[in-house]
Amino acid sequence: MAIRIGDEAPNFTAETTMGEINFYDYLGDSWGVLFSHPRDFTPVCTTELGAVAHLKPEFAKRNVKVIGLSVDPSESHHEWAKDIEETQGAKLNFPVIADHDKKVANLYDMIHPNASDTVTVRSVFVIGPDKKIKLTLTYPASTGRNFDEILRVIDSLQLTAQHSVATPANWKDGEDCIIVPAVSDEDAKVKFPKGFKTIKPYLRITPQPNK
Ligand code: BEZ
Repeated sequence: MAIRIGDEAPNFTAETTMGEINFYDYLGDSWGVLFSHPRDFTPVCTTELGAVAHLKPEFAKRNVKVIGLSVDPSESHHEWAKDIEETQGAKLNFPVIADHDKKVANLYDMIHPNASDTVTVRSVFVIGPDKKIKLTLTYPASTGRNFDEILRVIDSLQLTAQHSVATPANWKDGEDCIIVPAVSDEDAKVKFPKGFKTIKPYLRITPQPNK
């Protein structure tokens, strides 16, 4: 079954590079990013895991715990981690699920048989502290993901969770936001003391509320 935005993130217990993990216990009250990569000892995946390891402080700053997954066993993950450190200059500093029985991959619909019936595609799930799915992304094996974009989406999701704003195309942290249509002009005057500009009745711009 496909997992969609708003669904409850399925819980699981799995073997990882940091021992057995119960997903919900691992997340606690944090946000989460669960992402799959097709195989250990492959070039694009090596760069991706290095990139996420470098960005760990950025995820931590946003109260986000990351966890990777591939269908290779944990001995293979540990061996590969040496190559990641050597070639990408970063220690593997987050758990990677050893999903050799494809239990989690199937639970999260990460195997797309018309791409490959043996390994996962590059899936990303962002999970909120309420354990609901906030974002899903699917990339093919040949395209490494842009993890700065995942941080950008998390900034937007967290802002939306705290204030009645949405974020426009290509928005980055610190830039103007959009007041959601459900907020009346009268309420907006109270909620957004920095003011707002009405471009159209449905398009109202305000400075980022938490800056
Ligand atoms: C890679 O990570 O480089 C890769 C993995 C599977 C298929 C193609 C590329």
